[in-house]
Amino acid sequence: MMKTLTIKGVSVPALGLGTWSLNGRDCERAVATAIEAGYRHIDTARAYGNEAEVGAGLRASGIDRGDIFLTTKIWYDDLAAGRFQRATEQSIGTIGVDYADLVLVHWPNADIPLGETLEALAEVKARGLARNVGVSNFPVALMREAIEKHGADLLCNQVEYHPFLKQDAVIAYARSQGLMITAYCPIARGQVMGNATLAEIGRRRGKSEAQVTLRWLVQQDGIAVIPKAGSEKHIRANMEIFDFTLSPEDMAAISALGGDRRLVDPAWAPDWDAA
Ligand SMILES: NC(=O)c1ccc[n+]([C@@H]2O[C@H](COP(=O)([O-])OP(=O)(O)OC[C@H]3O[C@@H](n4cnc5c(N)ncnc54)[C@H](OP(=O)(O)O)[C@@H]3O)[C@@H](O)[C@H]2O)c1
Repeated sequence: MMKTLTIKGVSVPALGLGTWSLNGRDCERAVATAIEAGYRHIDTARAYGNEAEVGAGLRASGIDRGDIFLTTKIWYDDLAAGRFQRATEQSIGTIGVDYADLVLVHWPNADIPLGETLEALAEVKARGLARNVGVSNFPVALMREAIEKHGADLLCNQVEYHPFLKQDAVIAYARSQGLMITAYCPIARGQVMGNATLAEIGRRRGKSEAQVTLRWLVQQDGIAVIPKAGSEKHIRANMEIFDFTLSPEDMAAISALGGDRRLVDPAWAPDWDAA
């Protein structure tokens, strides 16, 4: 049974399909396969260049639009007033839907006043292009500025989070404000495979390191996960995380792996530790 989060009164399936690096027919097929397997949450972005294929996959699955939670993201060069709204219109047009469930600022951009971008976010929500809005790759200081200075009504912050990257401060602040954290690179791009702690915990339950990791994430309050999988085998395996529970000891052992192995840290990244 898929877990559903309730964030600010909005229902969000705790597991979604990540689609970065999925393109063309592979993307369309993966999206349709995931929906057939029970996924009801799909994550894309303008920068992935696959929004049309994500839309094709949704239609190929035959699912009702209203049964899917669809997220897209606007790139950091489109955050100015006017450009943000146009980019959002283009996104949903490319996907072939009337609205997105969630539109995110993909990365912060220090050259554009945050208040200007947040006004654009509020406008796309008011116009119904997005049912909800949020941010991605925002450190605590920027979340704080958005919420406490500008009064932004954000559903989530999507950040890198997996057993090898601690995110205690970002998660604590998000929780204090009732926001969801969506964990990207949740299985550390496959690097969880082979980890002795995860393997040992999985062995006792007949689960892989990836499944144990995804379970550890969704078993935490207010955390959604969006593992990317191209193969049907992995798409289906990543659904098999709702039929077992990790003990408090297992949860603590995985949290103790901790660390600062950040996999996504491009030149335009913010100061991650800004509090
Ligand atoms: N907001 C942002 O800035 C941002 C940044 C990065 C990512 N994201 C989003 O987060 C999603 C996930 O992150 P990611 O794609 O970077 O990394 P990820 O989901 O941690 O890892 C994906 C890799 O793990 C493999 N895999 C999937 N399921 C597996 C399983 N059960 N066992 C073993 N290997 C498995 C996949 O292989 P196969 O494909 O061969 O199955 C793929 O190579 C992205 O697709 C994107 O939607 C957002």
